[in-house]
Amino acid sequence: MSERQPLVAANWKMNGSLESMKPLVNAIKAGLDKAKAEVAICAPYVYLPQLKQELDGSAIHTGAQNVSEHEAGAYTGEISTSMLSDIGCHYVIVGHSERRNLYAESDVLVAEKFARVQSANMLPILCLGEQLDEREAGTTETVVARQLDAVISKVGIAAFAQAVIAYEPVWAIGTGKTATKEQAQEVHAFIRQRLAQQDSTIAASIRLLYGGSVKADNASDLFSMTDVDGGLIGGASLIAEDFLAICQATR
Ligand code: PGA
Repeated sequence: MSERQPLVAANWKMNGSLESMKPLVNAIKAGLDKAKAEVAICAPYVYLPQLKQELDGSAIHTGAQNVSEHEAGAYTGEISTSMLSDIGCHYVIVGHSERRNLYAESDVLVAEKFARVQSANMLPILCLGEQLDEREAGTTETVVARQLDAVISKVGIAAFAQAVIAYEPVWAIGTGKTATKEQAQEVHAFIRQRLAQQDSTIAASIRLLYGGSVKADNASDLFSMTDVDGGLIGGASLIAEDFLAICQATR
């Protein structure tokens, strides 16, 4: 099995301000000395230039939470991949469940965004995950496979050498209801297995993050699982102490 460096990515969602960002970033930078994990912060668009500046000289990567599927043109209110790469963005989250569910982003649209991010030489963090009723109906694997296959059929399996996947069960996001480590491992293993059907090297090397109510007190349990290579952290990433504890909890 190839060595996968754990990744912990903060997803600030639509939170924060110019004023609150500086002390949060400074505290994270100061506390990260001993983290084994790679760390990224996905901030709201308007704060990315300043975030990038504040992270200058640190190993922490800058990430965006969304992007347009179009290259340029008459798309009022949208942000393109070239704009994100212009300011030194490294990661872009695509297909977050809040985008899929609140903004009706389809599997096909998410696949287009994934392709667009890669063509601008940034790394997509592709989010996959089932809703509560889908889990209860026993269709978790069907849903996750459908979301994953839409991207594979658009970009091909080789593209996954330059990507990260985050499994985020929708029922666990922001609810305080974390998946158990066994539930997380089961779906992560399924995702890796599905990728391995097409390319075992890529499947073994891709990082699979878990997201959904990861906290300082459950992170090490989740991260102890074989196929859990880190986390995508929402609420807990807004508190430096909690986020740092999560970063230190990786294998
Ligand atoms: P949460 O969010 O950690 O607040 O559940 C995770 C996410 O939505 O990425």
